[in-house]
Amino acid sequence: MTVDTATKTASEAFTVTPLSDIMAAEVTGIDLAQPLDQATRDAIQEAFLAHQLLVFRDQKLTKDQQVAFTEQFGTLERHALTNITPGAHPLVHMVTNLGADGKPSGVVKSTRWHSDKSFREAPSMASILHAVTLPPDGGDTCFANMYRAYDALPEAERTELDTIKVVHSWPDSRENIGRKISQAEIDDAPPQAHPIARPHPETGRKALFLGMHAAYLDGVDRDAGLARIEQLEAHSTQDKFVYRHNWCQGDLLMWDNRCLLHRADPNFDAAAHPRVMHRTCLRGTPT
Ligand code: SIN
Repeated sequence: MTVDTATKTASEAFTVTPLSDIMAAEVTGIDLAQPLDQATRDAIQEAFLAHQLLVFRDQKLTKDQQVAFTEQFGTLERHALTNITPGAHPLVHMVTNLGADGKPSGVVKSTRWHSDKSFREAPSMASILHAVTLPPDGGDTCFANMYRAYDALPEAERTELDTIKVVHSWPDSRENIGRKISQAEIDDAPPQAHPIARPHPETGRKALFLGMHAAYLDGVDRDAGLARIEQLEAHSTQDKFVYRHNWCQGDLLMWDNRCLLHRADPNFDAAAHPRVMHRTCLRGTPT
């Protein structure tokens, strides 16, 4: 792969190198623990829109530094009510396989394809995930390019999908994983209808807006709608649309939830090895 951008500003010089033909670029030569000047922020934003997933290498950010980095690109998203553990940082979500006893539990969460906060009226713009503790191997995160998935559909199907709304529902997706949620949680995150072919607010390109929170199609029989959602998700997550990230110590990933789905791959011994990440999330815009 060749370096496609070399950006030098008063405070920073960094390189952006594509990691695959599907999406993703590696960013080196920048310390995200330091405040970024406007030119650097603009260059990062440009690379983010061009590659959809940025892999910043060799970072070591505290939770507060990660919040400070994230805030330079927009408004931080709070968690769903259920995800706030008493005493935890309110804006940094711990992605972990550790149990209450602090030992590996064998359970890996977020293994189904999803777009963070797709059940909100203003779904997430971006997520930032920083590796804290990694297993000796595996524990990958997979990403599907939903621009490419939309573009690859036959024209007649794209035209039809352009008229359809999909309802993303936190209550439904919790029920699907066997969790009953309270009325307060339902009130906090009521189901939201979004275009299934959702135009990206910055690039204007359409991307399929699916994932585990997509529960049914607006105005369509529930079972038939769900079958269609599942069929479109199977299409979108074929290997040809997927980039698999094999983590290195110090990686900090920033991805665009408006055009990518992601999932954790439990391809490691989660009962033996800890895997701990810190996640922050940026709010997007309503559709
Ligand atoms: C997430 O879904 O935000 C976490 C993905 C991962 O653990 O790899």
